[in-house]
Order: sequence, then C-alpha cells, then structure tokens
Amino acid sequence: MYNSKITGLGYYVPENIVTNDDLSKVMDTNDAWIKERTGIQERRHVVKGDGDTTTTMGVKAAKVAIERAGIDKDDIDFIVFATLSPDYYFPGPGVLVQRDLGIKTIGALDIRNQCSGFIYGISVADQYIKSGMYKNILVIGSELHSHGLDMTTRGRSVSVIFGDGAGAAILSREEDTSKGILSTHLHSEGQHAEELALIAPGMGKRWVTDIIEDNDKDDESYLPHMNGQFVFKNAVVRFSEVIMEGLQANNLDVSAIDMLVPHQANLRISQFIQKKFKLSDEQVYNNIMKYGNTTAASIPIALTEAWEQGKIKEGNLVVLAAFGSGFTWGSAIIKW
Ligand code: COA
Repeated sequence: MYNSKITGLGYYVPENIVTNDDLSKVMDTNDAWIKERTGIQERRHVVKGDGDTTTTMGVKAAKVAIERAGIDKDDIDFIVFATLSPDYYFPGPGVLVQRDLGIKTIGALDIRNQCSGFIYGISVADQYIKSGMYKNILVIGSELHSHGLDMTTRGRSVSVIFGDGAGAAILSREEDTSKGILSTHLHSEGQHAEELALIAPGMGKRWVTDIIEDNDKDDESYLPHMNGQFVFKNAVVRFSEVIMEGLQANNLDVSAIDMLVPHQANLRISQFIQKKFKLSDEQVYNNIMKYGNTTAASIPIALTEAWEQGKIKEGNLVVLAAFGSGFTWGSAIIKW
C-alpha cells in the first residue's frame, strides 16, 4: 500500500473582475446585501469570446501544477476532472484535457459532484495510487458559471454567488504512509437533489426534440435553482459532521488541525464552522471575498493560494471539506 501526496498545485482565474456594484447595474441587488449574506466582494467572469472555457481554464491551472510537481506531462498516468459546467454535454472535459495537454492516451474520468467534486476527485485518485495502479494523477476542478447564470433580478439569489475559475493538483505516490492523504470521507443524500440543481437540458425532463422546439424564454428549468436557506442549514450540519468523521477516523481531534480549507460556499458558513470548532483566523483559509463560489474549483484554488502564501507547511495537518448540490459532501485529512 502507498499513500498519495499532493506534489503540485495551480490555479487560474479569468482577468475580468465583476464587483457587487457591477452586478447592481444589471439587477436589483446591492453591495451591502451581498457582503452581509455571503461575504463576497467580487468574482471573476469569463468575457464572452475571449476563448476561455471550463477546459482551457483547467488546462492553465494544470500546467502550473505539473511544473510545480517537477514532473513531465507524460509522467501523468490518469486524469480526473470535476465540474458542473462542462464545455459539452458529452464528452466530458477530461478527454479534452488529455488532448489539449498533448499527452499519451491515458484514462480520463469526469466527476459530477458539484461543490464536492474536487474532494470526490482526489478520493478516487487516492484509491488508484494506494492500490499501486497509478503513480501520478492530475485532478482538476474547473467551472465556467457565468455563461449559465440568470443575470437579471429574477436570478439574483443565485447569480451573485457564483464565479469562474479553475484549480488543479498532482497527486503522486508516497511510500511513507504516515504522510499525504490519510483518509477521505464521501456522502450523498439524493432526497434533496432538486434543492440545488440545474434541471435542463436533461433527458429526464422530456424528449430532446421537445427541448429544441421549445425555446421558451420563461422556462426556468434551464437556470440554476437553489433553496438558499435549506442549503445553508444542511451545509453547516454536514460540514461539521464530515470534518469530525475524518478526524475521528485518524484518532485526531479538532486541536490537531493546522489548516482547514473549506469549500467556499458562503463566508458565513465558513465562519460558522470556524466558531464551532474554535479555530483561529490563521487556521481557516477563505478567499470567497475575491472569487465568489467557484464550486468544484473552490478548494483547489484556495489550497493553492494558502500554499503559495506559506500558510501550509511540511508536516501540517490540512483538512478539506465540502458540501453542495446532490446533496453531496465530503472531507479529506492530509498530512502535508
Ligand atoms: N440582492 C438583494 N436582495 C436579494 C438578493 C440579492 N442578490 N437575493 C435575494 N434577495 C432578497 C430576497 O428576494 C428576499 O427578499 P424578501 O424578504 O423581500 O422576500 C430577501 O433578500 C431574503 O432572501 P433569502 O433568500 O431569504 O436570503 P438569505 O438570508 O437566505 O440569503 C443566500 C440567501 C443565498 C445568501 C443564503 O441562503 C445562502 O448563502 N445559502 C447557502 C447557499 C450556498 O451555500 N450555496 C452553495 C452551496 S455549495
């Protein structure tokens, strides 16, 4: 048995900054409401026509991670790509990364677990490395939300929250099993699937010919729907549970945490968890203020920034935790 270690991290966000004031010009919202409810000050949006897609952003993040891991792209044995905003309905972006990086015909897997996608992704990658099947795996979380949001007052409770960006990690074989990813813990509760969802286009809804003929501008099933308060209440419970589950599985308690990198859903959710676990500001990394919620990309972007700023050091206990649409949630306990 081996462990897997994160040997390289990278992220990419589009240059275009969209402030809360910018949003208030196109919908009935304001800086004070957004900041008070979510902590978000600004987010990045891809400018239509500038060429960035979920895949190209993922590739940019991946190139940084590969370089920092000190490996060649041809040393990568497998690709895992987590997103809810793929370039195409099919194929998923994993194969596009294989093509765009110009690497040999390795396997590529797409993960559809929304905000928990990156944790599901590293969990899958970790099992392949533990079993000895692969040595180096590229895991990407990337989202291009802005093209799919309703930027009118009708969509304001969702569209002010989400931003575009990508993060990537290289997981590599680690012989010392006291280091690296110690465990991952995954959950789902499909009973609440429609509480945070984008229903269409989906083959469950109706015949595809109906979808094409439909073109109904008032059909809201093409827009993301979120029962915000219900999501919030479930998030704070599940974040806490899954962090404790991970710590207990490793005979650790909360005092062992050097750095918690929570999925950047809402600053108020992160602050709730921080207070509950009595963690200091230095023990929790948040960047939702700058990027909004970037779903599958949020943990790898935040993890990369925390690492770049020297906030994660060799030997630290790093905890990742996420909750989101599905509902799905998960945690990863890492000895850096
Ligand atoms: N700007 C201004 N007002 C807004 C608004 C916006 N962008 N969005 C909603 N409002 C209004 C509502 O219409 C409502 O008005 P009313 O009282 O006249 O009906 C009022 O603000 C309160 O709306 P509500 O939805 O009850 O607000 P909230 O306190 O629940 O905050 C969220 C909304 C979305 C910020 C909050 O529920 C949340 O963060 N939930 C978790 C979401 C999340 O984490 N999602 C990702 C999961 S991974």
